Amino acid sequence: MLTAVWAALWVAVAVVVISLPRWLPARVVALRGWVFTRINGEESIAVPGDLVGVDRFREVYSHPAASGRSEGAVLSDLFWYWLSPGPEMHQEHLEAGERYDAVALATRRILSLPRARVEELTRGCVGRALEGRHGVVRLRDLIMPAWAEFSYELVFGEPCPPHARELIVGNADDVVTALKCCGLRHMDRRDRLTAYLVESLPRVRHELPAGLTARERALYLQGAFFNTAVVQMSEATAHVLMALARHPDVQARARAGDDRYLDQVIAETLRLYPLFGIAHRVTTDDIRVGEGVVIPAGSVLCFDYPAFHRAGFPEPERFDPRRFAPGHAPARELNHIPFGMPANRPCPAWRLAPLALRVAVREVLRAYELDSTAAHTRSLPNRGPCLLTPHDAGGPAGARHGPGRRLTLLSMRLKDGWEDVWRSLVQLVLGTYMVWDARRLRLCERHFSGDARPQGT
Ligand code: HEM
Repeated sequence: MLTAVWAALWVAVAVVVISLPRWLPARVVALRGWVFTRINGEESIAVPGDLVGVDRFREVYSHPAASGRSEGAVLSDLFWYWLSPGPEMHQEHLEAGERYDAVALATRRILSLPRARVEELTRGCVGRALEGRHGVVRLRDLIMPAWAEFSYELVFGEPCPPHARELIVGNADDVVTALKCCGLRHMDRRDRLTAYLVESLPRVRHELPAGLTARERALYLQGAFFNTAVVQMSEATAHVLMALARHPDVQARARAGDDRYLDQVIAETLRLYPLFGIAHRVTTDDIRVGEGVVIPAGSVLCFDYPAFHRAGFPEPERFDPRRFAPGHAPARELNHIPFGMPANRPCPAWRLAPLALRVAVREVLRAYELDSTAAHTRSLPNRGPCLLTPHDAGGPAGARHGPGRRLTLLSMRLKDGWEDVWRSLVQLVLGTYMVWDARRLRLCERHFSGDARPQGT
């Protein structure tokens, strides 16, 4: 009798343990959300939500009073913490005014490259990053050195030396890892890049914003070009390649087809996996929404990209690039704003980024067949595990699709599932710590109250 009870107990424990990858990560994500809200406070208004529906999402996001960027939102302390050093110089977090205008102008100048040059530069940078690579890779790690070189060349107008590439990747990887709560900040890596940029300022080939100190200029470049640009382009490329790796039919068509189809794949990827989860704004005046609803000045609006991008699409969870094919409604009429709202500080790279992304994806497709059995989620904390099989790999095509490949893909799925269990626990602990630490440091609040401490500390 006792033996039977023990046996049942062991079976029950085994079932719970084996099923962990199925249910634990989602529960931990929900718990993390709850902890974040408890520590941060429930100050924000979700859009779309009870107060503002999907139908008024664009109207409210574009409203001139939905323009405050940092001051007055508890949430800003967290973003400033993640983006240190120099969040007060990051274009994304500057309040409107002279300084913002000067910085935004400099960014536009640096990004205004002829199309042919963007394509040529991307081809060169991606080609070097792919040299000698095959087998199982993490797509984000694979491609980040390419975008580090790309950004360097945009800013300095000359090829990126290897030590600069390492500094840039060290900085960008540290920021994005902390943002996803997969690791803590390493301020030494970030500070090394700042020091390098300060001493390299005389070599910058563009006019930099007037009225800034050398350190402020370096921090501006670091924020926009060696953090945001590198992180966003690496994440976007990893997402598109993951989508192709997980949808072989779409991959085959994209490889054979022209750029119009690839553009549809990119649009659908950024619909389903928008790089911004939430963009927040602090209202500078009352906003009247329809009859009788007023959002008071000083409110924190959280624009929820994934929710907006799913509303109004049939079977919104399904990956289907044909939604953007000719004959359907034009993208501007859909709930699709991967680069933000044109009227309210959209992404300054909205023209350059899709061009460069298309060339990067084309280069990878030209060289490899892609397969992945790993999870593809919006925040992509697994950095996109993927099997790269070179087209020119020896042996008949059948051998490339034989038992070895199937085994690799099976082990990828199992490994990814178990990593997810461990990672979600790590994210819970480190995320809670960082939210607490950001509240303790109050970098944004102190900046605006004139009680700033040395950045990043
Ligand atoms: C596929 C790649 C990219 C996507 C999907 C993307 C997306 C976005 C989005 C949605 C916003 C607006 C967020 C908001 O409303 O607060 C934004 C802002 C911004 N992005 Fe991008 N981005 C990408 C690449 C880049 C690149 C290459 C740069 C290079 C400098 C860049 C620099 C910025 C900056 C500086 C802002 C803040 C704009 C402002 O407040 O004036 N982004 N991006």
